[in-house]
Amino acid sequence: MAPASSPSAKGKRPHGPASPAKAAKRARVDSTGRSSTTTTPPPRSGRTSWSLRMSEAAQRTTNPIRAIVDNMKVAPNPDKPVISLALGDPTVFGNFNLHASCVDAVKKQLDSYKANGYPPATGMEVARDAVARKYSTPEAPLTSKDVILASGCSGALELVIGALANAGQTMLIPRPGFSVYATIADSKGIKYKYYDLDPSKNWEVDLDHLEAQIDETTAFILVNNPSNPCGSVYSAAHLRAILDVAERHYLPVVADEIYADMVFSGQTFTAMAQLTSTVPVLAVGGLAKKWLVPGWRMGWILIHDRADAFKDVRVGLQKLSQVIIGSNSLIQAALPEILHNTPQSFYDETNAQLERHAKVAMELLGKVKGLKVVVPQGAMYCMLGIETDLFKDVKSDVEFTEKLMAEQSVMCLPGQCFKYPNYIRIVLCPAEDKLREACQRIAEFCDHHRK
Ligand SMILES: Cc1ncc(COP(=O)(O)O)c(C=O)c1O
Repeated sequence: MAPASSPSAKGKRPHGPASPAKAAKRARVDSTGRSSTTTTPPPRSGRTSWSLRMSEAAQRTTNPIRAIVDNMKVAPNPDKPVISLALGDPTVFGNFNLHASCVDAVKKQLDSYKANGYPPATGMEVARDAVARKYSTPEAPLTSKDVILASGCSGALELVIGALANAGQTMLIPRPGFSVYATIADSKGIKYKYYDLDPSKNWEVDLDHLEAQIDETTAFILVNNPSNPCGSVYSAAHLRAILDVAERHYLPVVADEIYADMVFSGQTFTAMAQLTSTVPVLAVGGLAKKWLVPGWRMGWILIHDRADAFKDVRVGLQKLSQVIIGSNSLIQAALPEILHNTPQSFYDETNAQLERHAKVAMELLGKVKGLKVVVPQGAMYCMLGIETDLFKDVKSDVEFTEKLMAEQSVMCLPGQCFKYPNYIRIVLCPAEDKLREACQRIAEFCDHHRK
């Protein structure tokens, strides 16, 4: 849980002078060559040196992925080229490319010389309208007024978390889950509690555990579907059951749907807002994953408020969006074409490639003694349980990832990055031959270290 006061600040000086400001004596030589000393009074600020420290908010702000990964400091095996299964960025491997129509849409805006100015804080009308048309359904209708654009889905999450919770209030977030939720909350002094996901039920929410976390400080429930890091996709029935909990306690839901529609055969993605006319839902998404352009930093908030409960929050979101104008004008102007001209075949091919990769990983890792594999249903990740009692010299997920890197040059993220020890997360994005080789090396590593 977020610290009530910053432990890292303990024993350290707050802003201010190193020691009480003293009057300074200065030697002076006048034009006749005579020297004298004058006393300069201490400055009114009380500062007498460059005694600078980061703010308390900066001290509170940590991204656990960076903290854990940067501390690992293991060199790869020089005899094996590094294969990284750690990065959730589909563009780095060269086998997932954006569609040519998206490139043309941005080029067109660049050539027009019309998309270079400041857009409105919540986003251009044409862009918000394009998002609303893309995501509006009869059950959960949207207009451009219900859309706010932000700098990536992370920017959308920052606005949403900041608009819904005061410092000291609590948000409920999934475990295992995407680490940035906690990072944003820490930076704002907002607390959080984790509710458990159950690996034996394809990472469904443990509903009793979720409900047990709710108290008078709870501000909202955050649900991530499809999930990073689990690769799970929830059924409509399960999403309804989560909404029932929210409804019983009058808690709004933040639905992180950045992996919307990225599902494998036999799975259906259901937007949470479609399942309720009573629970207010803020859904966040963006271009990063489905359109394969995370660096374009385009995210959005969809305000679903059929019960008219978000009147004040809506104003709050608008106010917070005015702090910085968070998404760039070029991509905003291109958004109508990006969202509406990208052919369905592009999305289908992305999902088919990810599904093929998931099958390769399952085929090679599913039977490895010492690993517990939870078959992914969508997104671009898979969690592997490490049965530490079956290994002679691997005691934790961090040790597993460190030794795997040192011996096999395969980089994965330890489950601790997602608050879920004794699992590791692998990314399914690398090209099939690279992924196959990485999985073979993981299997070899397990064979080598098993009792
Ligand atoms: C679950 C989840 N939410 C939000 C984001 C942030 O997306 P963006 O890159 O658009 O900020 C990510 C990125 O990996 C994610 O996995």
